[in-house]
Amino acid sequence: MSAAALRAKLFADRVYELGTENAFKIGPHIALLESQGHKVVRLNIGEPDFDIPSFVRDEVKRQLDLGNTHYCDPKGILTLRKAIANQMKEMRGLDVSPEQVVVFPGGKPSIGFSQEVYCNPGDEIIYPSPGFPIYESFPRYLGAVPVPLHVSEDSNFTFTAEHLRDLITDRTRLIILNFPSNPTGGVATLEQLTSFAEVIKRKCARDVRVYSDEIYENIVFDGQEHVSIATIPGMQERTIISSGFSKTFAFTGGRVGYAVFPTEDEANIFKNVNINYFSCIPPFVQEGARVAIEHPDSKKVVAHMVKTFQHRRDVIVKKLNVIDGIRCKTPGGAFYLFPNISGVCQNLGVFAAFDNLSTDLKARTSPSGLFQMFLLYHHYVATLDRNSFGKIGSEGQHFLRLSSASELEVLEEGVRRLEIASRDRAGFEKFIKSTVMHVC
Ligand SMILES: Cc1ncc(COP(=O)(O)O)c(C=O)c1O
Repeated sequence: MSAAALRAKLFADRVYELGTENAFKIGPHIALLESQGHKVVRLNIGEPDFDIPSFVRDEVKRQLDLGNTHYCDPKGILTLRKAIANQMKEMRGLDVSPEQVVVFPGGKPSIGFSQEVYCNPGDEIIYPSPGFPIYESFPRYLGAVPVPLHVSEDSNFTFTAEHLRDLITDRTRLIILNFPSNPTGGVATLEQLTSFAEVIKRKCARDVRVYSDEIYENIVFDGQEHVSIATIPGMQERTIISSGFSKTFAFTGGRVGYAVFPTEDEANIFKNVNINYFSCIPPFVQEGARVAIEHPDSKKVVAHMVKTFQHRRDVIVKKLNVIDGIRCKTPGGAFYLFPNISGVCQNLGVFAAFDNLSTDLKARTSPSGLFQMFLLYHHYVATLDRNSFGKIGSEGQHFLRLSSASELEVLEEGVRRLEIASRDRAGFEKFIKSTVMHVC
């Protein structure tokens, strides 16, 4: 039996349906280049380049010293759930009981868990595309049907109520929203959210859930305030609000996120999912997360980070827009830039090169994927391509995601190299001849 056939027998069929998050897959490529002595500019990273606030770090240490290292409530420690419920009132005006709150290891797990808990095989899940990759990587693993809601560059990476309406069917069980958005930085206005809510209330049964991923809720620019769809009348009872500490407090390694469920009953189902998968989240990091919410200096620390991201955004968007073949919208939130690189692909002959690839290679990449790997292997800038954020129906969309979670000088160096790459026809031809088959 061939190795491939053996492997196919070893794993359950569903394993082949599970997607991934490319942000974690690009790491070995960067490591390889750095081991060869190249200095890679990392614009691929989705985590703030700040330390966790000192008061959070001190609390985690203090809790360790107190010996708070044992099993704890699988739903999350009550003091943290109370702090989250209070914050829901303060920031969104929503009345939430701590019993509706469940703590997870990061903002990510509740995405897959919600698909597992609310969807049977054949049920449909609507999600934004481009969007956080986990929205699309899970449905088929569960036998559910992924239904991408393509956001448009023309509407600042949002969509219309009519567009959403046309995707809702009797099989729709879950509608995922994400504002501010990864990877586009798109932010929906209150008017837009109200029109989405109207469509959902009109077309969906009461038991259809909106999963509102609000992990970038605090990273909003130009003096705007974050708005949650759950605050629109009639929506709190249909909406799961998810957020966490990875982005707002640069606590990606702490692995603390949470979701607020419409009912206590639903929260208890998720508590049982937690029990089955990991029992509980380390209590000492949860205490750190509680302090992150409650500390009097929290707002100041976050405001400083947001101001820094906004300044970087302003500088880099301007620099990107003067490169021939690139146009870049100004994101309203999060810390990503999502330039359209169609012109560069045209100028460099990327489309023609893509058309000439073998069927096998073609299936593994895309025009923006080719440019992404060329930029990495020949100009040493790490970015992520459009298809890293959902593949279904993405043909004809040519974008890169650049993270602004690096010092301004690093970002400027990345854009300088990107500009050189954008006119390096000879380099691109060389890449297609000798490198592409090894790296895509
Ligand atoms: C939109 C979105 N949701 C969820 C997550 C997951 O966050 P965490 O690292 O807390 O699991 C991310 C991380 O990049 C994200 O961008």
